[in-house]
This record gives sequence, C-alpha cells and structure tokens, in this order.
Amino acid sequence: MTCGLNPSLLLVLLCFLHSTEETCPSVCLCISDAVSCSSSGLTKLPHSLPSFSISLDLSHNHVSWLSPGCFNGMSRLENLLMAHNQLKALNPGTFQNVSGLRHLDLSSNKFRAVEQHYFQGLWRLEELLLFNNKIARVEAGTLSGLSSLKKVYFSLNQITDFPFFSIQDHTHPFLSMLDLSSNRLTHLQWEDVKALPRLVQRGLYLYNNSLICDCSMYSVFWHWDLRGYDSVRDFKEEHICFINGDLRSSIQFLQQNRFFLNCTVEKPVLQPVTVLLSNVLVSEGERMRLDCQTSLTSTDLSFTWLSPSKGHITKANIDDNLINLLPNGTLEIRATKVNDSGLYVCTAVDIKQALNATREVNVTVLLPTAELFNTGYTTLLGCMVTTTIILIYLYLTPCRCIYCKRSKQYESSSLSSTLFHSTRDQTKSQTNKHVAFIDPVMNEEGTDWSLES
Ligand SMILES: *[C@@H]1O[C@H](CO)[C@@H](O)[C@H](O)[C@H]1NC(C)=O
Ligand SMILES: *[C@@H]1O[C@H](CO)[C@@H](O)[C@H](O)[C@H]1NC(C)=O
Ligand SMILES: *[C@@H]1O[C@H](CO)[C@@H](O)[C@H](O)[C@H]1NC(C)=O
Ligand SMILES: *[C@@H]1O[C@H](CO)[C@@H](O)[C@H](O)[C@H]1NC(C)=O
Ligand SMILES: *[C@@H]1O[C@H](CO)[C@@H](O)[C@H](O)[C@H]1NC(C)=O
Ligand SMILES: *[C@@H]1O[C@H](CO)[C@@H](O)[C@H](O)[C@H]1NC(C)=O
Ligand SMILES: *[C@@H]1O[C@H](CO)[C@@H](O)[C@H](O)[C@H]1NC(C)=O
Repeated sequence: MTCGLNPSLLLVLLCFLHSTEETCPSVCLCISDAVSCSSSGLTKLPHSLPSFSISLDLSHNHVSWLSPGCFNGMSRLENLLMAHNQLKALNPGTFQNVSGLRHLDLSSNKFRAVEQHYFQGLWRLEELLLFNNKIARVEAGTLSGLSSLKKVYFSLNQITDFPFFSIQDHTHPFLSMLDLSSNRLTHLQWEDVKALPRLVQRGLYLYNNSLICDCSMYSVFWHWDLRGYDSVRDFKEEHICFINGDLRSSIQFLQQNRFFLNCTVEKPVLQPVTVLLSNVLVSEGERMRLDCQTSLTSTDLSFTWLSPSKGHITKANIDDNLINLLPNGTLEIRATKVNDSGLYVCTAVDIKQALNATREVNVTVLLPTAELFNTGYTTLLGCMVTTTIILIYLYLTPCRCIYCKRSKQYESSSLSSTLFHSTRDQTKSQTNKHVAFIDPVMNEEGTDWSLES
C-alpha cells in the first residue's frame, strides 16, 4: 500500500536529472521545451542542442551550412525557425532524424534552388516557408511525400516554373495555400493549374509575376475571380501580364480586360459556374423575397427561377399576381404557402459573354403552429442565456467579491430578479419582437453566403 516515493518529489528529481544532463548552450535561451538562439551572431549550429526541445529558433544569424544529421537526437523537434540566415543549399540527410517537423521556416536565406531531396521524409510537415530567397528552380519531386502540407510560401523568389502536376487531391489533401506571388513565372501549364484540387486553386497566389497575356491565362483568373477567391480578389491591381512577354507593356488584367474581349475561351464554359446555397425560413402567409445575387456582375442579365411548386418562372410567363420577378432578379412571393417550400434555383444569364451562374435557396415555409413553438423555444432559450449571463456576472466577476461578501445574498437576488423581469417584460410586451430571433436566419439570404464550388 505504501509507495515510498512522493510523485512530486520524483518529478523534481527527474527535472534535476534532466537539466544536469542537458545544458542550454550559453548563447541560447531555454524555456521549457523551447530553445531560442536568435540574433546571436551564430555562424554554425551550437554544440549539444538540448534533445528535449520542440521549438528551436535560430533566426537572424549567419548560419550558412547545416551538416547531414545535424539535428540528430532532436527527435521531438516540431518547429524549426531559420529565417534570416545565409543558407544556400541543404545537404542530403539534414533533416534525417527530425521527421516530426511541422513548421519549417527557411525564409530570407540565400537558396537558389529547391532540390528534390531537401524535405524528404518530412511527412508531418504542415508549413513550409521559403519566401524571400533567390530560388529560381523548384525540382519536380520537392513536395512529394509531404502529405500533411497545409501552407507553402514561395513568394519573392525568381521561380520561372513550378511542378503543379505533382500536387493532387490524394497527395496533398490539406494543402490550402500555395503562395507563388512575386516570382518570374511566365508560361504556366494552365491545364495542370486547372487540374489542381479546388482547395489549392482557391489558395493559389500568382500575382506580381511575369505572366504572358493570353486567353488561356486570362480564362483561369477570370474563373477564380468569378468564384470570388480571395487570392484574386484581394490583389486585383497586382495581377499583371505582359503583352507578347514585352516587359514594357504590362496590363493589370483583372482591371482592364479590353485586351481579352476577343478571347473565346469563355464560350465553352456554359454550364452554371457558381452555386450559392442558403436557407430561408418564413411563416405561412408572409411575403418572401429571394434575390438572385450571383457572381455575375454585368448589368445586362436575364433571370430564370425554377421553383418546386410553380416550375420555371421567367418575366414572360408570370400569370398570377401572387408572384413577381423584379428586374434585378429578385423573386417575390406575396403570400407563401407551405407547399412553396423546397429548393429554388435561379439562373442568371449573361447573354453577351454566354455565361450563366446559378443560385440556390432552400426555402422552408413554417405553419403558424410550428412558428408558435419556435417562438416559445427561442424565448425560453433567450431567458436561459440571460440567466446564465447574470449568474456568470455575479459569481465570476473577481473584483465584486471584496465588497459583496456581506450583502451578496441580497444583492444577487435583487439584481437577478430586476434584470430577469425586465427582459421578460420586454419580450412579452413586444410580441412581434420574436421575429428578431428569426430575422438573422432570414437575412442570411442576402449576406452570409457559403460559396460552393
Ligand atoms: C538517424 O537516422 C539514421 C538513418 O535514418 C539512423 O541510422 C540513426 O540511428 C539515427 N540517429 C539517431 C541519433 O536517432
Ligand atoms: C513584385 O515583385 C518584385 C520582385 O519580383 C518586388 O520587388 C515587388 O515588391 C513586388 N511588388 C508587389 C506589389 O508585391
Ligand atoms: C479583336 O479581333 C478583331 C478582329 O479579329 C481585331 O480587329 C481587333 O484588333 C482585336 N482586338 C484586340 C483587342 O485584340
Ligand atoms: C446555362 O447554360 C447551359 C449550357 O450548359 C444551357 O443549356 C442552359 O440553357 C443555360 N441556362 C439558361 C437558363 O439559359
Ligand atoms: C398549394 O396549396 C394551396 C392551398 O393551400 C393550393 O391551392 C395549391 O393548389 C397548392 N399547390 C400545389 C402546387 O400543390
Ligand atoms: C432588388 O430590387 C428590390 C426592389 O427594388 C430590392 O428590395 C432588393 O433589395 C433588390 N435586390 C438586390 C439583390 O439588389
Ligand atoms: C432544405 O431544408 C430542409 C429543412 O431545413 C431540409 O430538410 C432539406 O434537406 C434541405 N434541402 C436541401 C437541398 O438542402
């Protein structure tokens, strides 16, 4: 029954052993499992780096050489920061025993190429930072096997070509950011780019390169723009291309598309491009307006709605005065019925560019009884939330407790009852106000889109 050693004593002993066995290099700072040797004027790695470290910061030094196996014995290492050093290349086997690396920062060094062997075996690597080097060449197999990759930063280099074909759904399922901006990409294999997983396309940054203006290039960006990808939308002005590759004739091609009016590449893309899904909740008898905001921006659009109860609805075929199709595509149903519930699909057609985009709205028309239940439920929920907030306020606010010890009982009960009553009275007196709880759901129609593509 009696266990001789006190566990905490054991822990202290272990810590003592730990720290005597592994000393922190004098130029570094060791805190827990993090070792920082940044800005220490190092030209090579310190001897005997502590094996227990999970994070090692060597940034802002002058390290120009890493010997094979230099991180041997640091098997727990997950974060290695080596930004702002003088590294030009990596030896085979540099990371041979640190396969647990998840975050590797080699930005602002002097790399000229990224060779196939550099990161091999780092299958847990999630973030790879290589921006601001002098990289001109990225070898085809560089990213193969790095199946945990999420974000890769290659911007501010001199890359002229990139092995897009090596990235596929099954090889890099989590890759959502590939930054190749501010490089020297001219001709890309656009077919390979279009074949990239959607997640990668969405997070592919290509602005400020030396792209040559042509229709296949334009069509790719045009579609990304249409889908509203941040990678394109946030850098519209920085997307430039050069006419015939002539560096004196650059075009901000997402802003001035005159040059591309002759491109016929859009024509084959006739199927609906964008599908936006949202849910709308209304009560029977209420007026409902469904807008048809799609990614098409032309002012000259024609709209068609497909409704579950009334079939196709166009401007021309409306024959009852219960529904209306407004010029901006908004469908109005004056008094909704339960059997108006279902999926509404609007197609906006841009005839000039032969494009159409669709928008889907899932409508649920609630019976008045369902609505009553809903009101009761939301009110109850509201009360519960209020009560919880009051309790949290009363019992968890630290500065109150010095003063309130004596009169706590009194204060808490009076405060809670007044607050409670006032909220309840408010909900009671403004019976229509319950809509406020449902409103956000209805407004979702116009604001909170999720983009499905
Ligand atoms: C490092 O890896 C090599 C080969 O992968 C292995 O032979 C060696 O024992 C490892 N060294 C340590 C210290 O783990
Ligand atoms: C574009 O790239 C060049 C280097 O290629 C860089 O100096 C410049 O700052 C970049 N501009 C922008 C707006 O990113
Ligand atoms: C578009 O094509 C027409 C005739 O094919 C040509 O005259 C015109 O210059 C072209 N426009 C541009 C901007 O390339
Ligand atoms: C949208 O484009 C397709 C071509 O894929 C066409 O068949 C369809 O009629 C278009 N939709 C509308 C409403 O014009
Ligand atoms: C929907 O219900 C109304 C009565 O509530 C009925 O008049 C109408 O015919 C129904 N419509 C369809 C398509 O079933
Ligand atoms: C369409 O027009 C109606 C009436 O003018 C307006 O209430 C609605 O907000 C407009 N919808 C959009 C998406 O602009
Ligand atoms: C529409 O909403 C209803 C109820 O919220 C749900 O049961 C149904 O699956 C939804 N339909 C689609 C296509 O999302």
